[in-house]
Amino acid sequence: MQSLWQNDCLIPEREPLRGTRKVDAAIIGAGLAGILTAYFLKERGLSVIVLERGRIGQGETSGTTAKITAQHRLIYDSLIKQYGMEMAKQYALANIRAISQYKKLIDKLGIDCDFKICPSYVFNRVNTTQLENEAEAAARLGIPSFMTDITELPFRVKGALCFSNQACFHPLKFLKSVAEPLSIYENTRVKTVDNQTVYFDGGRLNAKYVVMATHYPLINTPGYYFMRLHQERSYVQALNNVPLVNGMYVDERQYGLSLRSSGDTLILGGAGHRTGKNPAASNNQPSSYDRLRKVAAKLYHNPQFSFRWSAQDCITSDSVPYIGQYSTSTPHMFVATGFNKWGMTSSMVAATLITDQITGEKNECAPIFSPRRFSVKSLAKNITGDGIPASIGLLSEAFHFPVKELDDLKKGTGGIIEYKDKKVGAYKAEDGKVHLVSTRCPHLGCELQWNPDEKSWDCPCHGSRFDIYGKWLSSPAVTNLPCKTLK
Ligand code: FES
Repeated sequence: MQSLWQNDCLIPEREPLRGTRKVDAAIIGAGLAGILTAYFLKERGLSVIVLERGRIGQGETSGTTAKITAQHRLIYDSLIKQYGMEMAKQYALANIRAISQYKKLIDKLGIDCDFKICPSYVFNRVNTTQLENEAEAAARLGIPSFMTDITELPFRVKGALCFSNQACFHPLKFLKSVAEPLSIYENTRVKTVDNQTVYFDGGRLNAKYVVMATHYPLINTPGYYFMRLHQERSYVQALNNVPLVNGMYVDERQYGLSLRSSGDTLILGGAGHRTGKNPAASNNQPSSYDRLRKVAAKLYHNPQFSFRWSAQDCITSDSVPYIGQYSTSTPHMFVATGFNKWGMTSSMVAATLITDQITGEKNECAPIFSPRRFSVKSLAKNITGDGIPASIGLLSEAFHFPVKELDDLKKGTGGIIEYKDKKVGAYKAEDGKVHLVSTRCPHLGCELQWNPDEKSWDCPCHGSRFDIYGKWLSSPAVTNLPCKTLK
């Protein structure tokens, strides 16, 4: 589904790359992190090529709510407890700097992208304990903030923690301008990376440095990112004919509401879930979009529903992105992933850190983002939090029995069925055709689940996604599913 941003910003198409080329830096992925990294490296005199499997900014940059903020729900109290003051300061400093770096770049290039300085709030409707702890942590780190119970929200809150001087913008208008002078090749699928060679359909790229900015890393080993990341989906409903807000708001609770305005539109987000675990798939719960529309109808008089879209986020066990050297055995390869729900500032942080690391500049904020950082707590959480769902996904491929047959499926719906003594994924289109796909994820073999909100096949283990024809939608898988259509 098209987002508000995609509706009014067309980015000109680029050619695919074919043949063999040599370059200083190969960037894989033309989202915000990849494009900003390419821009800064080029500015420092390196030759750079960006390879993109689909179109520029077509992935998560199109699905974001585009909040540029160092307020990442609640994080600073937890960072101080987990890593200490010094590391927590690095996180705060890098993200605060990211806001001013956006402003500087927008001013320098004269980009018209609806950039606006505004406050950011995290709110709670019943309890302020965690907010107060976060306010205290922010004060210790020197981040200006204050508590209030007065907001622009259409409901009462018990309390809200405000960070002033944050920002928001139109992400695709920004991306379009920054990408304009760069060498970017679209519709160029990277198959693998071997040391300093990037292999793609139709050729290869030899590079001194390789940057993996693909949202979810494509290479399983080394790095083992699939063992320390999972993905979550969230949904957005744009509303018109409702009161707008100047600030940006997010609920303290996981999967709670998020609100900001853009022009005459209110962007209402929420109703998220772990990828491959949409509650509407297995019981009679309303879909995520229905839930958002019901909330909007309760909060506002006569809201008008316009655009709706969804986003996917890579989540780390300690809520801090992995930015830096891909693994100890790949000194020339870098990664930017696990932005949690905060892709705008994290993209700028990643571009700055990786550019500094490649060009040999010291950056005092690097340690907290290092993919090699170690915390006993986060490792334990990783094993219990991310490891178990992956194991269940793998087991379910072997032991989960389908409950439906082809005749049980209504038009416009999908599910796992038994067909000719085999378990397959099936979608019955409105024209009566049935599209059958394998339910075995090509990444590491977990069983795919039907997502009725997006009409897609989603993997609960690491978040790969495929459309009703088995066509690839999201990493870490890199290939399509086998598909057969019954007439
Ligand atoms: Fe890893 Fe599906 S995404 S097994």
